[in-house]
Amino acid sequence: MTVDLTKKLGGRASRRHLLKGSAAVGAGALVAGRLAGLAAAQDATPAASAATGQLEVFSWWTSPGEAPALQALFDAYSALYPDVEVINAAVAGGAGVNARAVLATRLQGNQPPDSWQVHVGRELIDNYVVPGYCEPITDLYESEGLLEAMPQTLIDQASQDGEQYSVPVGVHRGNGFWYNRQVMEENGITVGETMSIEEFLTAAETLQAAGIVPLSLATKDTFAAAQTFENTLLAVAGPEKYDQLFKGEADWDDADVRTAAETYGKMLAFVNEDHPALTWDQATAMVIEGNAGFNSMGDWAYGEVVARDAVENTGWVSHPGTNGSFVLVVDSFTLPVGAPNPENARNWLRVLGSREAQEAFNPLKGSIPARTDINREIFSPYHQWSIDSFANDALVPSCAHGQASSPAFQQAFYDALLGFVDDQDVDTLVLNLQDAAALDAEMAS
Ligand code: GAL
Repeated sequence: MTVDLTKKLGGRASRRHLLKGSAAVGAGALVAGRLAGLAAAQDATPAASAATGQLEVFSWWTSPGEAPALQALFDAYSALYPDVEVINAAVAGGAGVNARAVLATRLQGNQPPDSWQVHVGRELIDNYVVPGYCEPITDLYESEGLLEAMPQTLIDQASQDGEQYSVPVGVHRGNGFWYNRQVMEENGITVGETMSIEEFLTAAETLQAAGIVPLSLATKDTFAAAQTFENTLLAVAGPEKYDQLFKGEADWDDADVRTAAETYGKMLAFVNEDHPALTWDQATAMVIEGNAGFNSMGDWAYGEVVARDAVENTGWVSHPGTNGSFVLVVDSFTLPVGAPNPENARNWLRVLGSREAQEAFNPLKGSIPARTDINREIFSPYHQWSIDSFANDALVPSCAHGQASSPAFQQAFYDALLGFVDDQDVDTLVLNLQDAAALDAEMAS
């Protein structure tokens, strides 16, 4: 049985009826093994085996790395609920820029999917909880033991007024900096455990002189320009001031903000000219394929590395100057008010919260599990590094990925940084950010 979702959504969404044996065979096998325990436990529950109908899941996971990871979650669900038809309503576009617009239209038209992807924090609360689009799932947190299994900081960011509203499935580190080991070696560049901005600029000179793009950038996905700036701001201002700025507690006309913008300008001298034509995964692919030295990207880039079988040749450090900080980008899923298949949606969320699903999904996605009771041995050296960073470093939310600020400020931040990539005018950037913060404060009062 298939459903023509493309028609239902006016041609905007892709439709895939998900079956095992597709591109994600490896992921499927992995999930099947890890889920054996969970399935055995839950097959005993009559509701689980009896479930039928559909489950429509809305996300923006369509890239070569994202799609198999999403498939691993579907496989986890289907292993327990084989008679439910899973509909993948993913809308392409990094950081959900396109998906959020499509979702807004659907929600306004009372046509919610059964669950949608959302970042915890302001994106979840401002866009969906406050307007009344989400059901609280506090009972599910309790029945599944999620309050004990997840760190308080994630629980808090998925909560409003004492109720939980989404289940975090993975924690991305937004301040990743990826490099091609062979390119570095061939050019005599040694990358240590950390990298300062100065070290990066020196390495970039060397690569440029050798005719290699030093830093790959993609601005077709509007988030990337903003993300690279927020990471550079974190490097210059440090986690405390970074946090204050996005909370509206510090003025954007600040010496550190200006230095960060100037530094970003210096970095932009080393990017590929075709960045407006590239999506984020294409910029990451430039590093994987040896056409660029470095790529500044959250660790969904590691999902691309896994999908393209490039683990051995890909190195990582924190975005220059941000060692000691972890930029939080937490993916979670909701239970909509008026979900067409609420029981299937609740079971989906139960699966997402399980250790088994999180252990199957995150190795492919590049994120670390939201649960802390996982078996870290099954994770790659990169993941182990990120797990340690999450445990020990300063945690700050990402604005480029909706967690740190209001949706309106996030949009203004995108626009201001896209403008800056073009004109590199520090005064204009500072003014735009000040204006956006002032508007935000006015709206909040
Ligand atoms: C982020 C999301 C990640 C990844 C990335 C690129 O916002 O949290 O899971 O998908 O966008 O699309």
